[in-house]
Amino acid sequence: MAKTIVSFGVIGCGLMGKEFASAAARWCHLTGVDFEPRIVAVCDANPAATQWFEENVPSVERAYTDYKELLADPAVEAIYCAVPHNLHERIYIDIIQAGKHLLGEKPFGIDLEANEAIMAAIRENPQVVVRSSSEFPFFPGAQQIVQWVNEGKFGRIIEVEAGFWHSSDLDPTKPINWKRRIATNGEYGCMGDLGLHVLHLPLRFGWKPASVRALLSKIVEERPDGKGGMAPCETWDNAILACDVKTAGQQFPMVLSTKRIAPGHANTWFIRIQGTEMSAEFTTKNPKQVASLPYTPGGQQAWHVVDAPYKSAYGTITGGIFEFGFSDSILQMWAAFCDEIVHGKDGMQQSFTCALPEEAADSHRLFTAALESDKTGGTAVVDWGNGA
Ligand SMILES: NC(=O)c1ccc[n+]([C@@H]2O[C@H](COP(=O)([O-])OP(=O)(O)OC[C@H]3O[C@@H](n4cnc5c(N)ncnc54)[C@H](O)[C@@H]3O)[C@@H](O)[C@H]2O)c1
Repeated sequence: MAKTIVSFGVIGCGLMGKEFASAAARWCHLTGVDFEPRIVAVCDANPAATQWFEENVPSVERAYTDYKELLADPAVEAIYCAVPHNLHERIYIDIIQAGKHLLGEKPFGIDLEANEAIMAAIRENPQVVVRSSSEFPFFPGAQQIVQWVNEGKFGRIIEVEAGFWHSSDLDPTKPINWKRRIATNGEYGCMGDLGLHVLHLPLRFGWKPASVRALLSKIVEERPDGKGGMAPCETWDNAILACDVKTAGQQFPMVLSTKRIAPGHANTWFIRIQGTEMSAEFTTKNPKQVASLPYTPGGQQAWHVVDAPYKSAYGTITGGIFEFGFSDSILQMWAAFCDEIVHGKDGMQQSFTCALPEEAADSHRLFTAALESDKTGGTAVVDWGNGA
């Protein structure tokens, strides 16, 4: 099948920049797609980071230390940008104004003000496709839950719980990095870092919290600074957000949690929905399994746990009996972004898009209210502007 090549530049060649390179290198994994990304240029302020690309990604023709030089490169049509949160506002706006499509990393700005500036640039450049990274909803088990919600299978929603939990920060000897500093990660702390992952599906389903009561914790107060001393950890380690969701037809509680210190959990993303006609759960802790409990009045309440087949949004060469993993979800997310660039939102080969900038903006409104709730110790009303 002839493929339309989308020429990419990568800004920020750290942990996530390399994941994209790996997904692009594995494109033959996908079947039936008529588009393909090609990373032609890379940029990182630290030349050692771009060196890995030059050594491992044969399509890379140019490496820059100044992202403005990459933006001036006419061969680059689209950008993946994965830099610390304090740089999102300036760099994302420059990318959008340069007319390049952007898959940016969350949280899309270090705070609400930065996010609003990015959103204004998006409104001024509607020809550019801008999406946020959020890969977990592409797990087959999560896609199954999306399908059930879209089919209205749950009946009246009783309660929703969703979260994203890590635990490596339980180790107090882990050195400090930019994610523990307000100047680089933002006042949201773990919410800015992990929160859009948790909110992507609830917001896609239209479940916007009217109010939030936030419980934010700082657990490890200082860490080795890498120079023989200790440095203060300024950001929130864990956040529990008790939300009151009001939709046109329903009102229900939704508990969202983002935790850097959840003992025993490494990259555990989950969603649990309880409803009067069905309940269901998916967690990346058991990535093969989807649990569901269909219910009819007076009937038995029995959980059904199935090994979800490898049935992804985009077809792959992998047999249905095999397991799906993190790097597969990244590949699927990239397919959705390239599909949208090449075919437009209405012409995509499947309908589930990457997280929208509007969803990222909504996450900022919730996190801003959560900070207020934590400060006052009370419930904060979420200001949805004119959006909801
Ligand atoms: N989607 C996910 O699962 C996921 C996971 C981790 C991080 N992230 C997000 O990805 C982004 C980056 O996080 P990371 O973990 O890859 O960080 P990282 O520290 O591993 O990489 C960031 C890179 O940006 C580079 N950089 C800094 N300033 C720069 C500049 N002015 N120009 C160009 N490059 C610059 C750094 O040198 C570094 O190589 C953040 O927004 C983070 O929230 C997403």
